Amino acid sequence: MAGKLIAFEGLDGSGKTTQALLLVEALKARGFKAYYTCEPTYWRVGDLLRLHVLRLKRRSPVYEALLFAADRYEHVAREIRPKLRRGYIVVSDRYLHSSLAYQGASGLSLQWIRKINFFAPKPDLVILLDLPAEKALERKLRGRKPRGFESLAFQRRVRKVYLEMAGAEGFLSFDALKPVDRLGREILEAVLSRLNLTPPKG
Ligand code: TYD
Repeated sequence: MAGKLIAFEGLDGSGKTTQALLLVEALKARGFKAYYTCEPTYWRVGDLLRLHVLRLKRRSPVYEALLFAADRYEHVAREIRPKLRRGYIVVSDRYLHSSLAYQGASGLSLQWIRKINFFAPKPDLVILLDLPAEKALERKLRGRKPRGFESLAFQRRVRKVYLEMAGAEGFLSFDALKPVDRLGREILEAVLSRLNLTPPKG
């Protein structure tokens, strides 16, 4: 496939959405075709996840893992593959490694999670925005009570899985506490050099 797939990963409150959008704008400004997208998606299963399942008090890790995989299947089929085929740099705000980190931290085997996501193309690059779980929660909650995935112990487990995968799979890892603009410039430079991207002519 002609394009490239970049995934942003990290805890809620790490600034993924801001940085993913900044990267897409910076790539476009340099003449690349770039496309922002996110998971959970705004397709059917994504809506089900965001509007219902993630708000339930009683969580079921297997059910969630299957739904995230189903959402990803639709994401890949409707957006990611078509855009890659047309040569876009696709920037996904969460992707496969969110399932590994979150559903893995919920106690499921990483091997099984990988298996049910067999259809998902491997990202060309994963960018991890890393910060301590305490800081991420602080940014996210701003004083309100934690719910669902928001306990400190759970966030710490998620971070641990992310850091292990970052080492094993060669993610680009950044300190998410750096100022937004500086972090944005560092991410752009690292992406251009790691993916060997040269701006299109004309
Ligand atoms: P999030 O990126 O926080 O969406 P929003 O900012 O729109 O609320 O994603 C919602 C939650 O879903 C987040 O806490 C992480 C979780 N999640 C998983 O557990 N597994 C997955 O595979 C994905 C994509 C997300």
